[in-house]
Amino acid sequence: MRATFKATTLIAAFALTGTQAISKISRAGRYLYQDDGTRFYIKGVAYQEQGVVVQSSDNDFGEPSSFIDPLALPDACARDLPYLQELGVNAIRVYSVNSSLNHDACMTAFSNAGIYTIIDLALPLNGSIDRITPSWSTNLLDQYIETIDAFSKYDNVLAFNVGNEVVINNGTAVAPYVKAAARDIKAYLKSKSSSVLVGYAAINGAGNFRDPLANYLSCDNSGANVDSTAIDIYGLNDYEWCGDSTFQQSYAGTTGDFAGYNVVAYFSEFGCISVTPRLWTETGAIFSTDMSPVWSGGVAFSYFPAASVQGQFGIVTISTDGKTVTTSQDFDNLKTQYNQATGPNTPSQSSSPPSAYPACPTTNSTFVASTTLPPTPNEAACNCLLSSLSCRFTPQTSNYSVIVGELVDTACNFVGQKGGSCDDIGGNGQTGVYGRLSGCDPTIKLSYVMTEYYQLTNNNAQSCSFAGNGTINPSAPSSASAANAAASSCISNPSATFVPSAPASTGGSSNTGGSGSGSSSAPGKNNGALNLIGDNNALVGMTMVALFSIASAVWTLA
Ligand SMILES: *[C@@H]1O[C@H](CO)[C@@H](O)[C@H](O)[C@H]1NC(C)=O
Ligand SMILES: *[C@@H]1O[C@H](CO)[C@@H](O)[C@H](O)[C@H]1NC(C)=O
Ligand SMILES: *[C@@H]1O[C@H](CO)[C@@H](O)[C@H](O)[C@H]1NC(C)=O
Ligand SMILES: *[C@@H]1O[C@H](CO)[C@@H](O)[C@H](O)[C@H]1NC(C)=O
Ligand SMILES: *[C@@H]1O[C@H](CO)[C@@H](O)[C@H](O)[C@H]1NC(C)=O
Ligand SMILES: *[C@@H]1O[C@H](CO)[C@@H](O)[C@H](O)[C@H]1NC(C)=O
Repeated sequence: MRATFKATTLIAAFALTGTQAISKISRAGRYLYQDDGTRFYIKGVAYQEQGVVVQSSDNDFGEPSSFIDPLALPDACARDLPYLQELGVNAIRVYSVNSSLNHDACMTAFSNAGIYTIIDLALPLNGSIDRITPSWSTNLLDQYIETIDAFSKYDNVLAFNVGNEVVINNGTAVAPYVKAAARDIKAYLKSKSSSVLVGYAAINGAGNFRDPLANYLSCDNSGANVDSTAIDIYGLNDYEWCGDSTFQQSYAGTTGDFAGYNVVAYFSEFGCISVTPRLWTETGAIFSTDMSPVWSGGVAFSYFPAASVQGQFGIVTISTDGKTVTTSQDFDNLKTQYNQATGPNTPSQSSSPPSAYPACPTTNSTFVASTTLPPTPNEAACNCLLSSLSCRFTPQTSNYSVIVGELVDTACNFVGQKGGSCDDIGGNGQTGVYGRLSGCDPTIKLSYVMTEYYQLTNNNAQSCSFAGNGTINPSAPSSASAANAAASSCISNPSATFVPSAPASTGGSSNTGGSGSGSSSAPGKNNGALNLIGDNNALVGMTMVALFSIASAVWTLA
């Protein structure tokens, strides 16, 4: 009773102070609109403190291995809100959140201040689609859905991004995995009657892969001009404008390339730091009629300090006790620019043509992604298989994701030496051929290849040990082809797509049999967050350093 009374009081208080609900944002064709029909432009800032970045030759992208969920820190949100308001932003972009934490205070405060959120669903390390050994699998789908569910009650989520800079210039074979994620997340949101947009944030680079990728993400794989596999909103991390440039000099080329784009587009990051302090005069261009037919605003990078080899991207600093915000010249300049930028209110909502969903781009030497997407990860089928495997991975530590990658390599080498193959757990985004287990949790994939090896050695107990990581399952069938037979019966329709459902229980005990990953055996092959060095590479002429020499997992066929 008491709680009810309090809640009522709160509602009354809101009514008295006249807090207005934040407008819903609707997409009409390639543009966004508020309830009153006004065109909506994202005037955003990236809002996430940088996690721990371990610099190493394996971590070319300077990717963090941990994260701090900025929407689960009520005091910090309250501290920062006045500064966000001073900047004049209407959106923040957040790269990683923890679905098991409470986000009510921050989300409500931002909503009341008219600030939307663009939320990336990936997490550092094994929480994102791996560039080198990609899969779209139950563990990631569950993580994405848990985040969506945790944020479904808020009225100020504008978009969920299914990836950030996953696809790079000569790694375009990973694109089908990203698109499968978009397809399944879109279906899930639709099943929940959610109108939150599905997005992707792309690295900038040469048009010969950037442009086909953009078209690929928003095309219709079925060829029937429907939107079921297409993203709703494309983000470009664009650092082309440095210093006091001009539209012609910095943005005309890219804007021209996107002139005929079919869905919403915006800059998911901008703010080159090669000339400091930053003037942020690009906002004048972004919100001008030169760019408004193509772009719906952008997200300045970054509110919090964010360091890369290039330098410092932050516009405020926070005192060590976390209590005080100090703004920089960059902050003042962005504030000046944002407060004078207003995007043109055209076209009107009713005259914005509905999107067409063209056929997907054909492949060539600079864009190799197959239009055949990986299937929807099928948890029930994978769990059915697991119960029939005679040698199973039994993690000795809760921190097993790195070990899984190493053990998959080891087990696949052993299986290969015995004349077997790891094709069932792999996949190839270039040929569009995906192994039957490609959508299973990495720990189940590992158990499968452990079982294959165990069977290939005539169920020699020693060969299920894997230095103490494997355990024999006495209740599983033990014939030489038992694993293969179980895969055939459990995963009877390996290429199926369907509307995914929420994991059986949050926290996942009954779910994936302990979700895990570790498709990478070293940190830094993921794309969970703030990819500063990657942006740098995009900036300096798309000369991305080779990431591929260190690819260690043998089970990606690409
Ligand atoms: C989320 O927060 C919980 C509670 O603090 C913690 O146990 C868990 O490790 C966090 N998850 C991630 C992915 O950081
Ligand atoms: C491949 O096709 C894309 C268009 O889909 C084009 O932009 C790119 O230049 C082409 N690459 C080559 C090497 O012709
Ligand atoms: C990542 O690995 C950890 C164990 O190291 C596991 O608890 C977590 O569920 C994994 N996350 C995903 C998405 O696989
Ligand atoms: C997890 O394991 C890796 C490699 O074994 C190690 O580098 C890392 O510090 C561990 N993390 C935790 C939280 O124990
Ligand atoms: C499990 O496998 C990892 C990786 O190969 C190895 O370091 C570890 O010693 C093995 N045994 C146990 C009990 O973790
Ligand atoms: C990717 O680019 C690097 C550097 O240009 C090159 O050495 C490497 O062979 C390329 N990899 C592929 C798969 O094309």
